[in-house]
Amino acid sequence: MSDYILEMNQITKEFPGVKALSNVNFKVERGEIHFLVGENGAGKSTLMKVLSGVYPYGSYEGDIIYNGNVQQFNKISDSVDVGIAIIYQELALFPDLSVYENIFVGNEIQNGGVLDWNKAIVESKKMLEKVGLKVNPETLIKDLGVGKQQLIEIAKALSKDVKLLILDEPTAALNEDDSENLLNLLKELKKQGITSIMISHKLKEVIAIADKATVLRDGETICTLDASKGEINEPTIIKNMVGREITDIYPKRVGNKIGDKILELSNWSAYDAQLGRHVAKNVDIHVKQGEIVGIAGLMGSGRTELALSIFGNAMNYKIQGDLFFEGLAIKFKHTSDAIKAGIAYVTEDRKGDGLFLLQDIKNNISIGNLKEISSNGVVNDNEEIRIADEYRESLGVKTPSIQQLVGNLSGGNQQKVSLGKWLFVGPKLLILDEPTRGIDVGAKFEIYTVMNELIDKGMSIIMISSELGEILGMSDRVYVMAEGKIKGEMSAEDANQEKIMELATQ
Ligand SMILES: Nc1ncnc2c1ncn2[C@@H]1O[C@H](COP(=O)(O)OP(=O)(O)OP(=O)(O)O)[C@@H](O)[C@H]1O
Ligand SMILES: [Mg+2]
Repeated sequence: MSDYILEMNQITKEFPGVKALSNVNFKVERGEIHFLVGENGAGKSTLMKVLSGVYPYGSYEGDIIYNGNVQQFNKISDSVDVGIAIIYQELALFPDLSVYENIFVGNEIQNGGVLDWNKAIVESKKMLEKVGLKVNPETLIKDLGVGKQQLIEIAKALSKDVKLLILDEPTAALNEDDSENLLNLLKELKKQGITSIMISHKLKEVIAIADKATVLRDGETICTLDASKGEINEPTIIKNMVGREITDIYPKRVGNKIGDKILELSNWSAYDAQLGRHVAKNVDIHVKQGEIVGIAGLMGSGRTELALSIFGNAMNYKIQGDLFFEGLAIKFKHTSDAIKAGIAYVTEDRKGDGLFLLQDIKNNISIGNLKEISSNGVVNDNEEIRIADEYRESLGVKTPSIQQLVGNLSGGNQQKVSLGKWLFVGPKLLILDEPTRGIDVGAKFEIYTVMNELIDKGMSIIMISSELGEILGMSDRVYVMAEGKIKGEMSAEDANQEKIMELATQ
């Protein structure tokens, strides 16, 4: 007899116009690492929100049996009380509070009715050690990168007596090293008897540590794969996720014509006065028309900062050196200057500054180029709808309607809207910063296909990515960055994983 810590039976959850989950069955054995995989919008996050009480009892159908008892969670704290901890796709830390305050907020250590913050500092040090994070507990959250924030979330979960740990795409924002630490941490916790459910689009991770993997597609359970039966491998997972086989996830470009230089940076440096150091130093790079230039590097190597310095320097770095766009030396004073010149930047942080979450898909897509669909200063609603529908269709945004609020879309689908927004602006040079972070394999293929179409039309792309497969699979040329400097350049033919990693870790 198997010992199930969790059984979710016949779970159905509907939102207005969307059946997010339809009779889903999900069983997790005690002590295993169980992955939940599936395309963007498949219902993974929703299932976990049902489990943790975000969607209270009564707002869904079906049964949750945890530790042998039927549970009716009315709020999140009900699930916390029985040892369930969930770390959301969207981080939920308080940026202006310190690390230790974040770890113990809502779970304060009391000493005779008084909050004992000294003890909290000592305890939080232990938790930080457990997750392998070397930071001072008094550091403010906002001063840490997303990767570290993620580990703090886990430390926070560990500070409660957690039996079932749920992680929703915890490694999406982590670099290779941090991701590996996290996977090792899960294995370590498993030894201590903690069961984990993890959502991830990184199949490499699933293959590395999963005992089981349950595949969801369109709100339904497709199957549960078992590592001990040799079922957890890439082709099997992909086939079940997308319902078809994808042989080459990097579609080939045929006969793209590479033209003149569209962008050139010469001895380009950007100094961040707040940090008191250069975020980019003596950078010489160029991008030609019809070219995809990959920028590889570890997290914190300065790739995003370099992109921002090109894209109108919104961060107010002190700039030295020259920027040539279409052969002319230009100094962009604002982001809007860069946009006017024909540059677009699709940010990795789609929540932070990419999208308006409280507006619908239609408004988000049209916002950057309203004049295109206006006459005499009035927006033509029909045109706006037509355009938004076109992008929804071509990017495969999974949603019943373009009137849906972007905040209600699944993570990957938000990313597609973000891309659609910029495509409508029609830039000459598109800078994509981690374009497929948190995106499923099927949708990745769609995004790569769109990139190739844009290149065919003569656009140029700079693609910043931490995924080496994507850098190698999609770029014509690759630069490698480390510590704000360009450490090397190579053609696609000459590039390989080892060479890039060697330069990136110099
Ligand atoms: N609050 C909400 N209101 C309306 N629809 C929602 C809401 N939350 C989720 N949905 C819809 O339910 C479906 C499942 O979304 P969910 O976030 O669970 O997907 P996911 O599998 O986690 O995807 P991803 O991999 O992109 O994070 C999607 O179609 C999504 O748009
Ligand atoms: Mg999700």
